[in-house]
Amino acid sequence: FAARQATQSVLGAAQRRAFSATAANATRVAVLGAAGGIGQPLSLLLKLNPRVSELALYDIKGAPGVAADISHINTKSTVKGYEPSSPDAIKECLTGAEIVLIPAGVPRKPGMTRDDLFNTNASIVRDLAKAAAETCPDAAILIIANPVNSTVPITAEVFKAKGVYNPKKLFGVTTLDVVRASRFISQLKNTDPATEHITVVGGHSGATIVPLLSQAGYKLEGAERDEYIKRVQFGGDEVVQAKGGAGSATLSMAMAGARFAESLLKAAQGEKSVTEPTYVDSPLYKDQGVTYFASQVELGPNGVEKIHPVGDLDAHEQSLLEVCLKDLKANIEKGEKWAKANP
Ligand code: NAD
Ligand code: LMR
Repeated sequence: FAARQATQSVLGAAQRRAFSATAANATRVAVLGAAGGIGQPLSLLLKLNPRVSELALYDIKGAPGVAADISHINTKSTVKGYEPSSPDAIKECLTGAEIVLIPAGVPRKPGMTRDDLFNTNASIVRDLAKAAAETCPDAAILIIANPVNSTVPITAEVFKAKGVYNPKKLFGVTTLDVVRASRFISQLKNTDPATEHITVVGGHSGATIVPLLSQAGYKLEGAERDEYIKRVQFGGDEVVQAKGGAGSATLSMAMAGARFAESLLKAAQGEKSVTEPTYVDSPLYKDQGVTYFASQVELGPNGVEKIHPVGDLDAHEQSLLEVCLKDLKANIEKGEKWAKANP
């Protein structure tokens, strides 16, 4: 009898574990801009993620086709595509979403800066942010659309105007900078990039991208250092040039976006000490008027758990940070000003 009781209690615990795992894994993830260059491979990678139970794909065109295609992949999650032929499509897509990824917007062509995308992408992001603020105000919002330095503050202003802003749930996705920083140092040092963890702080454009090599024990000098920094800061331009007018990074960005979403999901589902650099509403440089900043952020069930300071910098990194803060402040103010003038 005692043995049976023990077996039952073990079974009960196993069943409870199974149940709570299922409940915790019931995560609806929405991708807005899902039929684009990033949206398609990002949606594919999310379909392969067992932590996602429902995938909701929205685009102004093509999302039902992408959804039908991806839905045949033999993983458990359901997939549905939404397009604006029905006025409620965006609301239906976002209902119940816990994570919303926004890669909707135009990409760069050679010769353009990310800021040159502002005029087109600001209103796209504002309108999608409005729909999210109205429909899933508690979701984690992951902004991929450029210029990230400004589209994140725009999103925050939309949520503030609706009275639902939660700074712990808004993220500018800067993971691609981290991925590049690791890959490029591994090429220089002939190491395994999977073991390279280079923190990148600041923002997501040119001089606002600041890789911190010294914290990983590296000290590059002279031209080698300058070329490495330039490659991380302008890695996006390398891809824009190579694609010759057909867009910017899509596949590496999809991987980076899926990695960041996976980190959020892990943290939401109870894993501890999940940390990623990401661009968030940050206290670190508020006294200098820089209200959003990317640094290592510990993630938890409620989104941002802890924002880490940048840590020790060498003199060169300190000078890069100073330039970064100046540019970032201007990008943030531009986004906030535009959002207030164009509610
Ligand atoms: P793309 O043109 O291939 O795809 C964009 C998609 O957004 C298209 O399918 C389009 O129909 C859709 N779209 C446009 N307006 C929309 C709206 N109002 N609602 C829903 N969908 C809409 O572009 P892409 O290569 O996928 O790049 C998308 C954005 O991501 C660009 O702004 C690009 O600069 C940015 N990006 C950011 C990073 C990063 O590191 N954060 C990396 C690469 C690209
Ligand atoms: C990137 O870093 O690849 C993206 O921000 C796209 C771009 O415009 O460079």
